[in-house]
Amino acid sequence: MNNLLKQFIPRPIRSTIRKIYYLILDTSDFLFAQKDELIPPRRKTFVGDGDFKKIGENFLRYFIELGALKPNDRVLDVGCGIGRMAIPLTKYLNQMGSYEGFDIIPDEINWCKENISTKYPNFHFQLADIFNKNYNPKGKLNANGYKFPYEDESFDFVFLTSVFTHMLPKDVDHYLSEIARVIKRNKRCLLTFFLLNKESYKLINIKKSSLNFKYEFGNYKTIDPNIPEIAISYDESFIIDLIKKNGLKIIKPIYYGSWCGREDFLSFQDIIIVSKE
Ligand SMILES: C[S@@+](CC[C@H](N)C(=O)[O-])C[C@H]1O[C@@H](n2cnc3c(N)ncnc32)[C@H](O)[C@@H]1O
Repeated sequence: MNNLLKQFIPRPIRSTIRKIYYLILDTSDFLFAQKDELIPPRRKTFVGDGDFKKIGENFLRYFIELGALKPNDRVLDVGCGIGRMAIPLTKYLNQMGSYEGFDIIPDEINWCKENISTKYPNFHFQLADIFNKNYNPKGKLNANGYKFPYEDESFDFVFLTSVFTHMLPKDVDHYLSEIARVIKRNKRCLLTFFLLNKESYKLINIKKSSLNFKYEFGNYKTIDPNIPEIAISYDESFIIDLIKKNGLKIIKPIYYGSWCGREDFLSFQDIIIVSKE
């Protein structure tokens, strides 16, 4: 819907159409969803057009199968948004397990606290007022100096889904060092990216990609030169070097995504599993 709207309709009208569209969807969710089901209002979800529930359920499977997640693990969700991954985790983690999530958008963290933590007290959410030109343009803290508010080696599983795809190189570098600090030895992390390699470059060049990364800024590319954080891609070799530099090891294979028009894929974004030895 977003792409169609962008092509043909001016921004103020687009905004009104989007509001009406989400109002209809939210009303329908309110009327027809099972009453015990956790569904955030769609007008508040900043996670793209995909199926919110199905994507969360798919990722829970990747966490278990690729990330070796166990029901009694202590889990960290960096850039947790409005709980797309936390919601399916509420059905998987047991009383011994726990979940920590932080994000930079107050509305999303408030919704998670009010709707998830009240029902699942081992799920905790925190706000970090970090600057991101797309998500929190008035943020007071810099991502590249932010210390995650958790103890060293205190998590069994850490993940970032669709977060490094909105962060600049210095910030990604610093977050990888924080991930390496808070993850326990031999435990896994799941990270998603838009990785530029021979195959994705080729598909972008022949216009198969859903994202046109045509603006280059040093070691990253974006689809929007004014607000680069809308979508950021990195050379695969640059990310591999950053991961190694921060004391993490890639557990192969890399699970490439469909974002660039690839026909053989696991998810939309590229998934890298890392661990600390
Ligand atoms: C596309 S959303 C994905 C949200 C969530 N991870 C999911 O998969 O549903 C990107 C998220 O990254 C968050 N974000 C951006 N920069 C961040 C930062 N420096 N630290 C933590 N979260 C950040 C945004 O606020 C937003 O919630």
